[in-house]
Amino acid sequence: MSARFGLDLPDYPWDQLTRYRRRAAEHPGGVCDLSIGTPVDPTPQVIQHALSAAGDAHGYPTTAGTPELRESIAWWYEHWHGVQVDPHAEVLPTIGSKELVAWLPTLLGLRQAGLAVACPHAAYPTYEMGATIAGVECRRLDAAEILAGASLDGIGLLWINTPGNPTGEVLDRDTLAEVVRRARAAGVVLASDECYGLLNWEADEPAPSVLAVTGSDHSGVLSVYSMSKQSNLAGYRAAFVAGDAALIADLTRTRKHAGMIVPFPVQSAMIAGLRDTAHVLAQKERYRVRRDRLRPALENYGFRIDHSTAGLYLWSSADEDCWSSLSRLADLGIVAGPGGFYGEAAAGHVRVALTAADERIAAAADRLDAAAV
Ligand SMILES: Cc1ncc(COP(=O)(O)O)c(C=O)c1O
Repeated sequence: MSARFGLDLPDYPWDQLTRYRRRAAEHPGGVCDLSIGTPVDPTPQVIQHALSAAGDAHGYPTTAGTPELRESIAWWYEHWHGVQVDPHAEVLPTIGSKELVAWLPTLLGLRQAGLAVACPHAAYPTYEMGATIAGVECRRLDAAEILAGASLDGIGLLWINTPGNPTGEVLDRDTLAEVVRRARAAGVVLASDECYGLLNWEADEPAPSVLAVTGSDHSGVLSVYSMSKQSNLAGYRAAFVAGDAALIADLTRTRKHAGMIVPFPVQSAMIAGLRDTAHVLAQKERYRVRRDRLRPALENYGFRIDHSTAGLYLWSSADEDCWSSLSRLADLGIVAGPGGFYGEAAAGHVRVALTAADERIAAAADRLDAAAV
């Protein structure tokens, strides 16, 4: 007899794409899968070497991370964002950032406090899943609504995502500062998911981190970062969170009990990846070339590209339901991500990822160009 209880989560949405994948695979030139943002380029050698050199990991790693890793995370914030965080008190490595996103409402005890999660209308689905797992409500709230005075009553954790997935929208410093001010005034923890921060296309500098607008006072604020995209490290599950020392101390204590400790070899690999900036710039250039090829082809074909000033996606709309766009793209052998996966507000868009080999991006662009009217 099966149990009569459980979280009863919905099926994983990406499984709904099977039909479109199958149709796209029938294309004589093969499928161009631009649906999921999984890195396709090799993990840099400097990181692979650091991982294998740390293969003797007979003892338990520490939840807080090695001193070298904590220093390297602080160095990363200083180098890329000009932000100072205290490596002793204000940083914490995490197993991937998906894991942190999914568990943060639980780790913060939102259910016990009777408080909700809020996240953008078009958002990475794990924000809502984290609320569901914790057994609390998830409300949809964009930064613009917060600036316009939307109430934060009853919210314990407010997610912003800049640059955003799926939209590629970057929140500017003034917006970030005002969101911080309002979150603090309402006693809400503000978590900013910044995993695409270095992939900023229309500026020479990274998209601003929330910690760049707070000065040295990080109270109530967390910056969440993942090395998956900047360093082709998705398979390592390497990420971190930085900000408010009291929140970091609380999360560290809870995780000491709960586990989810970053493995020692991965901690060593993270140090190498954080300290080496050359591979990050080289990877960004690879994506820039793909973006420059794909964007005009999508526009030529009839898509409007909204936002997309940063990150790994072209947020494309033909002013029709996302499933119709998906179907037309599948006929060209191209698989995209349906906007509907990211919230009702996103159902008129498809998300086209830059995470495919150059040859596949070129094939997709050629097909779009050829089909353009
Ligand atoms: C907005 C956002 N946050 C977090 C993640 C998770 O990154 P990871 O779990 O690889 O660190 C992703 C991955 O696509 C993402 O798009």
